[in-house]
Amino acid sequence: MSANKTFQLNTGQLLPAVGFGTWMGWPPTGTDGGTTAEENYHAVLAALRAGYRHIDTAAVYRVEEAVGRALKDSGIPRSEIFVTTKLDCPDHGRVADALGESLKRLDLDYVDLYLIHWPQGAGAAKDVTPLETWLQMEKLVGIEKVKAIGVSNFSEKTFASLLEKGSIVPAVNQVEVHPYLPSIQLREFHDKHGIHTMAYSPLGGQLQTQLLGNKNTLLADEVISEIAKSHLVTPGQVLLAWNVLNGSSVIPKSANPERMKANLELPALGKEEMKRIDELHRSEGKHQRLATPPQGLHGWSYQDLGWDVHRGPDRHSRMRRGSDSQLRRMSFYVRSRSCFGMSGIGEARNTPIPICLIAIPEASRSCARGVGTYRDLLRL
Ligand SMILES: NC(=O)c1ccc[n+]([C@@H]2O[C@H](COP(=O)([O-])OP(=O)(O)OC[C@H]3O[C@@H](n4cnc5c(N)ncnc54)[C@H](OP(=O)(O)O)[C@@H]3O)[C@@H](O)[C@H]2O)c1
Repeated sequence: MSANKTFQLNTGQLLPAVGFGTWMGWPPTGTDGGTTAEENYHAVLAALRAGYRHIDTAAVYRVEEAVGRALKDSGIPRSEIFVTTKLDCPDHGRVADALGESLKRLDLDYVDLYLIHWPQGAGAAKDVTPLETWLQMEKLVGIEKVKAIGVSNFSEKTFASLLEKGSIVPAVNQVEVHPYLPSIQLREFHDKHGIHTMAYSPLGGQLQTQLLGNKNTLLADEVISEIAKSHLVTPGQVLLAWNVLNGSSVIPKSANPERMKANLELPALGKEEMKRIDELHRSEGKHQRLATPPQGLHGWSYQDLGWDVHRGPDRHSRMRRGSDSQLRRMSFYVRSRSCFGMSGIGEARNTPIPICLIAIPEASRSCARGVGTYRDLLRL
């Protein structure tokens, strides 16, 4: 498949099928698997030199300044690079100002795509509705600082008011999509409304690698590995090709120059191979979100987000059944003590599981790993 493949957005812009992700993992300090902003500068520069022409970043990744430097130092004309950045949740009440701050950090006059990172506001903006934020986004169009506007982590539920009351159809919805979470119904919804699907964490995401000790179950999947062998490519390339052949762009992140290059060269999968991969999520225990903590984010649960938690055997339903092998694969990603009140863990409280707990109090960051039970977790 050509490395130069593009998709056309509803604005007429051409978006490279394979872009480059810049989320540094968590915590973004270069410790515990995360990369530093400086490492990110080098990664983005190397990615641009390797041929990437779409860079995906966000205010909350805290790398916009490093991304901006890499864009400049690459010497590639600005007009040849597609830059996406995102509005952070606490900024939902101040969209124009937040865009200005992102542009300043990026040292750019405009971004090609500006996304609402999550539908929910946070902090001072916690009561701002997705529609209110979208109406502010619409005002950006025409001021020459953004070429297109879109959303991320939206579902049919959170899209409803935007499509009903907004006057611009979002160009993109950036969501988690991979063979274990194919999001078929959501992609059909996007197609119906002319919204492009941009797949994040297309390789299973960094949380898997960071929190589960390099055991990325998706990259290790037997079917994916078998297909990769037959094409003499890596499982990662097969995963990316599957998404692109389904019409979604991908934004894999890699700090490794070889993987970075390989991710641009995708195999042409046959119909039968695509079908085998399409079927993967139907196997018991496979349908799951790999990139978002099970308790949701910024005070919104999966249900609030309108995510398809009850369709297919996902993490939540598995937790309720309390299967040991599946529970062992669970990780906990806890933002504060209030998150300990997770639902559906009743019968599993004494099951030993690996706990990777990242507690992030307001003023300090701390990280702890270990093996314990849910009871231990609740005692912390
Ligand atoms: N909108 C949102 O809410 C949201 C959420 C999550 C992510 N994102 C965006 O999506 C991007 C990608 O998602 P992600 O960073 O979570 O994860 P990802 O791209 O699915 O996976 C990245 C991980 O896979 C490894 N990797 C890269 N290429 C590989 C290959 N060919 N074979 C095996 N391993 C490979 C990387 O390690 P090495 O670096 O060592 O290669 C890294 O640990 C992010 O960087 C961010 O820009 C958006």
